[in-house]
Amino acid sequence: MHIRHALPWLSAQTVLGASIPFADIDSSTQLHKRALAYSEPHYPSPWMDPKAVGWEEAYEKAKAFVSQLTLLEKVNLTTGIGWGAEQCVGQTGAIPRLGLKSMCMQDAPLGVRGTDYNSVFPAGVTVAATFDRGLMYRRGYALGEEARGKGVTVLLGPVAGPLGRAPEGGRNWEGFSPDPVLTGIAMAETVKGTQDAGVVACAKHFVGNEQEHFRQVGEAQGYGYNISETLSSNIDDKTMHEMYLWPFVDAVRAGVGSVMCVYTQANNSYGCQNSKLLNNLLKQENGFQGFVMSDWQAQHTGVASAAAGLDMSMPGDTVFNSGRSYWGANLTLAVLNGTLPQWRVDDMAMRIMAAFFKVGQTIEDQEPINFSFWTLDTYGPLHWAAGKDYQQINGHVDVQGDHGSLIREIAARGTVLLKNNGSLPLNKPKFLAVIGEDAGPNPFGPNACGDRGCDNGTLGIGWGSGTANFPYLVTPDQALQARAIQDGSRYESILRNHAPKEIKALVSQQDATAIVFVNADSGEGYINVEGNEGDRLNLTLWKEGDALVKNVSSWCNNTIVVIHSPGPVLLTEWYDSPNITAILWAGMPGQESGNSITDVLYGRVNPSGRSPFTWGATRESYGTDVLYELNNGNDAPQQDYSEGVFIDYRHFDKADSPVIYEFGYGLSYTTFNYSNLKIEKHEVGEYTPTTGQTEQAPTFGNFSENVEDYVFPSEEFPYIYQFIYPYLNSTDMAASSGDAHYGKTAEEFLPPKANDGSAQPLLRSSGNHHPGGNPALYDIMYTVTADITNTGKVAGDEVPQLYVNLGGPEDPKVVLRGFDRLRVEPGEKVQFRAVLTRRDLSSWDTEVQDWVVTEYPKKVFVGPSSRRLELEEELS
Ligand code: BGC
Ligand code: BGC
Repeated sequence: MHIRHALPWLSAQTVLGASIPFADIDSSTQLHKRALAYSEPHYPSPWMDPKAVGWEEAYEKAKAFVSQLTLLEKVNLTTGIGWGAEQCVGQTGAIPRLGLKSMCMQDAPLGVRGTDYNSVFPAGVTVAATFDRGLMYRRGYALGEEARGKGVTVLLGPVAGPLGRAPEGGRNWEGFSPDPVLTGIAMAETVKGTQDAGVVACAKHFVGNEQEHFRQVGEAQGYGYNISETLSSNIDDKTMHEMYLWPFVDAVRAGVGSVMCVYTQANNSYGCQNSKLLNNLLKQENGFQGFVMSDWQAQHTGVASAAAGLDMSMPGDTVFNSGRSYWGANLTLAVLNGTLPQWRVDDMAMRIMAAFFKVGQTIEDQEPINFSFWTLDTYGPLHWAAGKDYQQINGHVDVQGDHGSLIREIAARGTVLLKNNGSLPLNKPKFLAVIGEDAGPNPFGPNACGDRGCDNGTLGIGWGSGTANFPYLVTPDQALQARAIQDGSRYESILRNHAPKEIKALVSQQDATAIVFVNADSGEGYINVEGNEGDRLNLTLWKEGDALVKNVSSWCNNTIVVIHSPGPVLLTEWYDSPNITAILWAGMPGQESGNSITDVLYGRVNPSGRSPFTWGATRESYGTDVLYELNNGNDAPQQDYSEGVFIDYRHFDKADSPVIYEFGYGLSYTTFNYSNLKIEKHEVGEYTPTTGQTEQAPTFGNFSENVEDYVFPSEEFPYIYQFIYPYLNSTDMAASSGDAHYGKTAEEFLPPKANDGSAQPLLRSSGNHHPGGNPALYDIMYTVTADITNTGKVAGDEVPQLYVNLGGPEDPKVVLRGFDRLRVEPGEKVQFRAVLTRRDLSSWDTEVQDWVVTEYPKKVFVGPSSRRLELEEELS
């Protein structure tokens, strides 16, 4: 195994966190010589702002705490204790002298991963489909409560990267939607909910981790790809600001306590040592005050990553269980020998403690960690990887509360009715025939496959680290049968896809209403399911779902199709068949799956979910795809985001391409009328660029320069195998570093200004003391209202959507800027109201390096989807 050097001796390429501009690709790669995308250096790393709005109190508490710490204790906060070292997927070192326990970092964005007596919530993509801020918040809060109840300090979600550039992207379902505004709102609500419940949220993966293929070298090599560096997502400045960065800014503005940097490179610089991403975009321009933690094994350098803005190394070892770290002892050494200034380590510690205090945690009342990620056994080694300290490690604490009803509601509200010829809602059907493996259980149990890495039985969630263990999984078959019995309907189900004889015999009977359940699955790259290395290989249904639908609908003229999937699938071959009387997308609903879909099918919940992505007719019609093959020899695969801001509906609109169902689309059991669009203009004054300077970098406390104070105190406690400590092995600094190249000075390998702690000029686009960029961006420039009338016979929720055309020749036809979910009684008229901020009307100007409202005439649209823009008016 290749172990990287602990203290980096780096080529110019890695040090700068950037490749050499216009470097030629080795001709042996047989590629054309071309300029590689390049990431500009931005140093020094911004330190916390004591006046940052929303952080003032947390800052004061952190200052009081961090000022008491020794250098070793500060380092202990920044560095994970190693893979499997204790109970959580990641833990920091503790500070026993002051009573601070080890902080627990734990997946996942839809439930506490790897434990028991927790809930499995609907995945992000289903929450997005609710278009309901309240449900987004309540889910975030419930997730926070469960994490808190297990002793988790930082819950590793929500996800805005992947955003969903390619519909095949394996982890899209962990996030929300390829629309940055919808995702941004979902991020902010989830962050607020989670943190209000007392747990630090983690906005991940920042940024450009849009596919699983080639995200990690070892993982890709395991699949047989001969590569030496991870994929580079090559994203231009405008696309970065207007698409991929956007939802992270919303998370920052909502006060998120941590951000996880990515495995992949951005413009040929690794995500966790990319000073453009971390120093410039996140901390300087957007005023992020929390801490940046690495994705697991995404750190590749020591001092260079510290200077580029990384604040916490996870899980702390260079590679899992190497027993070595880029930080730990090496971070201690870097400060001791002057390679890294004290202020940078102090700032890391400040950011970590401020996030901790900000969510209401206290040193005195930390919840003990009462589960082990590594086993469900009650007793086992506390130090899991080392097999040491056998004791009770699982309390089996039930943290579910009454979350089942919320889960049921979210999944029902997030179910999208794509087609309905009048067969729905069901009303005491005489004979219900339910068909398909996706309606039934996994015969080996809902948790049979580790991290849900298989597609057996009904699909509740995808696979990977973004999963949790089901406390139960209500299958569609169970819930529909229970309802049928209650109604006196005849009910039979065939929970197989391959049983043509039996299925035909059943569904061709008189009075059959057939409901066919089909699915497609995807997940994280470290698990390969049926040949899909995380990313989907295609957009078709799994397990010959198309054939199943076509067969059933050829035998039964009242066939209803329900789809569980992480995103779009191709419906082209059958969606318009007259025998297919209804189609529903039930996303990834979580543990209450069967109850939620039954609620919708029977009209207990009138569907109001909206598709958070476009359903194209072909895979090619999306214009973007996963890069499945190496394209740069065995060097970093290059993925150019050459489509710019044109993904999903922006792309389909630009190409003037027909779609099967558009972004924002979804039917109801009632009908709505849109009228009376009104736009009110507010006087907000001019945009004021931020000016001025920061304070100089503060330090908190002193550190001893006596090397003897840093040696492992073996008389005080035993050394645990593979555990990552902040201590040196001996007073021999070079030997303790484990680095063959020890001894280079900062000047020799760090970029200019990396260690400059003097006052720094503020960016014009930044918000002096306001996280989320220049506060003038959030000035409300217009209020838009419209009347929505329920013209049908039943009560229902409508999701009016506000779109804008920004007017320029390069601008998308429309972009989503607002929405609401409104309850409307039959015959009732309600008012939809949304605001347009300056940010909503701005474009990123790459010359000025700021947001500007262009001179182009702009237009506002309100309607029930991105292509049904019923009302429109010019903005003046
Ligand atoms: C994933 C993260 C996850 C971490 C810890 C990584 O491989 O990309 O999303 O939080 O592992 O499990
Ligand atoms: C772990 C995940 C982690 C992944 C990293 C897996 O073995 O279970 O938590 O995200 O490795 O590749």
